[in-house]
Amino acid sequence: MATFPSKRLRRLRVNENIRSLVQEVRLSVNDLVCPIFVEEGLKEKKSVGSMPDIVRLPLSEISNEVQNISDLKIPAVMLFGIPSQKDESGTSAYAENGIVQRTISEIRSNFGDKISIMADVCLCQYTSSGHCGIINGKKIDNDLSIKTLTDIAVSQAKMGVDVVSPSAMMDGQVSAIRKGLDDANFKDVIIMSHSAKHSSSFYSPFRDAAECAPQFGDRKTYQVPFTNPREAMREVEADIEEGVDIVMIKPALSYLDLIAEAKKKFNVPVSAYSVSGEYALVKAAANQGWINENEVTNEILSSIKRAGADFIVTYFAKLGAKLINENS
Ligand code: PBG
Repeated sequence: MATFPSKRLRRLRVNENIRSLVQEVRLSVNDLVCPIFVEEGLKEKKSVGSMPDIVRLPLSEISNEVQNISDLKIPAVMLFGIPSQKDESGTSAYAENGIVQRTISEIRSNFGDKISIMADVCLCQYTSSGHCGIINGKKIDNDLSIKTLTDIAVSQAKMGVDVVSPSAMMDGQVSAIRKGLDDANFKDVIIMSHSAKHSSSFYSPFRDAAECAPQFGDRKTYQVPFTNPREAMREVEADIEEGVDIVMIKPALSYLDLIAEAKKKFNVPVSAYSVSGEYALVKAAANQGWINENEVTNEILSSIKRAGADFIVTYFAKLGAKLINENS
């Protein structure tokens, strides 16, 4: 006669040792990429109001920060620049002595290959319009914009970047950048595209951090509507056809279904960007004492990985790495 209950799933949860043997998803420091904000002309680091514990750094503090990140065994950083000058065509984004270009060169000369350098390729911090492309008349001109995005990527490659990460959501940005890099003989520079970057309200704290809010209108003519999963997969597919190396789904937490789907559908690494608003929600609740920050961080990062992300760009990279290192 069958015993009751017929399945005793609690057997495998009996204690820490057994639980650890059957653990399916295990977060590692190798899953984390740490964003860095670097601001031109800054004297000392500046906190970001809507992102507690996140700072904008002057160039002089970059190597210290990268050392801290590297000591935690985090394999890569993602650079965002805040220039001292903006103009219509975002020229400071691809200037030889631009803030990101100098930062790349500083990290490369002090760290060699010890840490991988990823850099955002976009225009919104650099254009007076605050848009991710070049304005022509009243519109964002796609084809003009991808030329400038290519110039940015090539200027970063010259300084020794490992991975360029276009986030402007212009059509054809991946093929234009790939061709530009190849023509300039940077055939080994990796492209990680923000393939399905959604038009999301979770970005507001970042716009605070990077001073890149659009001065008119919004980003809905280029970023994917969060209601359109099929369109998100078409974006991923287009980037793969254009020769992308790594795709990204962004944001992460409200988009776990899309991470899972991209992972299932395509044979390329899928990254996830856990964005500023996701960070701010946790920080705000933790500061009130309403949730346990360490536990929630571990749960969120693990769930993004469980959904299928190969790695995660996250403002919780340092905290996540500390927690992982302490427990291993
Ligand atoms: C700009 C850019 C944004 C983010 C990354 N790159 C903001 C935007 O599109 O307005 C958001 C990242 C975050 O919120 O952490 N190209």
